[in-house]
Amino acid sequence: QEVHRRAGAAHLRLLGRLAVISSSSRASSHGFLGCLSDKRIPVFTQGSDSFMPRLNAYVRNPRFLENTTVRPLYLVMPTNAGHVQDAVRCGRRHNMSIRVRSGGHDYEGLSYRSVNASDFAVLDLSELRTVLVDSQTSTAWVESGATLGELYYAIGNVSDVLGFPGGVCPTVGVGGHFSGGGFGTLMRKHGLAVDNVVDAELVVANGTVLNRTTMGEDVFWAIRGGGGSFGVVLKWQVGLVTIPATVSVFKEAVSGSEGAVDKVTRWQKVAPALPGELYLRVRVQEKKADFRASFLGGCDDLRRVMNRSLGLNGADCKEMTWVESVAYIWLGSNATREDLLSRNTSKSESPNSFKATTDYVRQAIPRDAWAEIFGKLV
Ligand SMILES: Cc1cc2nc3c(=O)[nH]c(=O)nc-3n(C[C@H](O)[C@H](O)[C@H](O)COP(=O)(O)OP(=O)(O)OC[C@H]3O[C@@H](n4cnc5c(N)ncnc54)[C@H](O)[C@@H]3O)c2cc1C
Ligand SMILES: *[C@@H]1O[C@H](CO)[C@@H](O)[C@H](O)[C@H]1NC(C)=O
Ligand SMILES: *[C@@H]1O[C@H](CO)[C@@H](O)[C@H](O)[C@H]1NC(C)=O
Ligand SMILES: *[C@@H]1O[C@H](CO)[C@@H](O)[C@H](O)[C@H]1NC(C)=O
Ligand SMILES: *[C@@H]1O[C@H](CO)[C@@H](O)[C@H](O)[C@H]1NC(C)=O
Ligand SMILES: *[C@@H]1O[C@H](CO)[C@@H](O)[C@H](O)[C@H]1NC(C)=O
Ligand SMILES: *[C@@H]1O[C@H](CO)[C@@H](O)[C@H](O)[C@H]1NC(C)=O
Ligand SMILES: *[C@@H]1O[C@H](CO)[C@@H](O)[C@H](O)[C@H]1NC(C)=O
Ligand SMILES: *[C@@H]1O[C@H](CO)[C@@H](O)[C@H](O)[C@H]1NC(C)=O
Ligand SMILES: *[C@@H]1O[C@H](CO)[C@@H](O)[C@H](O)[C@H]1NC(C)=O
Repeated sequence: QEVHRRAGAAHLRLLGRLAVISSSSRASSHGFLGCLSDKRIPVFTQGSDSFMPRLNAYVRNPRFLENTTVRPLYLVMPTNAGHVQDAVRCGRRHNMSIRVRSGGHDYEGLSYRSVNASDFAVLDLSELRTVLVDSQTSTAWVESGATLGELYYAIGNVSDVLGFPGGVCPTVGVGGHFSGGGFGTLMRKHGLAVDNVVDAELVVANGTVLNRTTMGEDVFWAIRGGGGSFGVVLKWQVGLVTIPATVSVFKEAVSGSEGAVDKVTRWQKVAPALPGELYLRVRVQEKKADFRASFLGGCDDLRRVMNRSLGLNGADCKEMTWVESVAYIWLGSNATREDLLSRNTSKSESPNSFKATTDYVRQAIPRDAWAEIFGKLV
């Protein structure tokens, strides 16, 4: 099947823009394409000039830029909600599997690649990314194709005292993120992104749009964790949280000779008991423990907590607005809030192909094990 498909792909490339599909197994593909063009839905066919750049624009794991990646036959790029409804109906009518892509950060690339070589189309929501913030009600409607950075920026654009508890990487898409949980710097005080979703619009298999009332509480519960399985979420309504006008951030890298092993060992014990206003993350890499904190309060208080808990001095502590702190935490000390709007894959984010997973440590890792880990790092 793999060989058959690769041959098919080569064939399509040769045909280029014509996108004539002659293989008998693809009779339904042709119908799908016709159905989309009847509805004037923007679509790029495999082999057309724009196909690869458009597809790869939101491939966030370079592992899947390889030519062994099984790609979609079509990249469908809706520009309004009706396009999404019609694309789902066309897929159903012509037996074309559809994968939904918002920000493309899926670790295994499941929003844009197939693992078993069956024909499929990608429904890419990157053109649907309006964010409407209502500071009166402290809520926002955000379309799935928006990035977290765009959401945070839009909130910061109307208020310094509102925020949203989502992930730290600004190019992550709202669609996949809210479909799976979403944790970040505000989670200790305000929970996950999904804990703060209050309504959503979902396109189900027959193309109908349902909201929280019409889908019912069970489905509403399921889409906040069961990503991709229940339909295409067009947009989400979220509750915003209150943030102090000034928050503080600091970074401190501790090397092996400065006691990194002890500090990381101790961090495991003290971090869970720190105030809910404090997010304190440590990254262990290059024989260093790289601590980063974000605190819903001022530097004086933050330094005091850091000194007492871990013996860190917080010398470079800085005070700023929450939205600036979001840029600082991921993009570095010189980042501006406008950098949150960049959708480009940044070097710091995914320079290499990666295999990743996230898990909860239920038992502290003993000091000896940390010493061994540091010994192995280069
Ligand atoms: C560099 C990096 C940093 C990250 N940082 C964090 C972090 O700080 N906190 C955190 O919690 N997570 C983090 N993640 C994980 C991230 O939240 C998930 O991978 C998330 O699913 C990505 O969403 P996306 O829209 O970008 O991905 P996509 O690849 O577009 O989608 C992911 C999954 O959701 C489905 N999906 C996408 N949009 C929709 C939709 N509109 N309706 C229905 N289903 C949909 C897709 O089909 C796919 O199965 C990070 C990931 C990366 C690569
Ligand atoms: C994939 O193939 C195309 C053409 O067939 C080629 O231009 C491109 O460099 C290849 N990419 C990789 C990552 O091998
Ligand atoms: C629909 O597609 C699947 C997978 O490509 C195939 O197994 C199935 O036979 C198709 N069904 C129809 C009715 O064409
Ligand atoms: C392969 O793709 C088909 C059609 O999309 C799907 O029904 C099947 O579960 C997939 N198999 C695996 C192993 O992923
Ligand atoms: C920020 O707000 C200003 C003034 O209300 C508005 O003109 C601008 O478009 C907003 N920027 C973004 C990116 O939303
Ligand atoms: C579409 O599906 C929804 C959910 O199952 C159902 O409530 C609705 O009646 C269906 N609409 C049509 C036109 O079939
Ligand atoms: C949900 O959709 C129904 C039917 O379209 C509509 O009457 C209702 O006002 C919507 N609910 C909300 C909260 O928007
Ligand atoms: C912590 O505070 C004590 C008492 O004020 C001070 O002596 C010490 O230098 C501080 N340590 C760090 C690492 O800042
Ligand atoms: C931040 O900018 C200053 C001044 O331009 C520069 O000296 C410094 O190296 C930059 N820091 C980072 C982390 O890029
Ligand atoms: C980001 O991508 C845009 C569009 O491709 C490009 O014009 C811009 O220069 C890029 N910015 C950076 C910082 O790479």
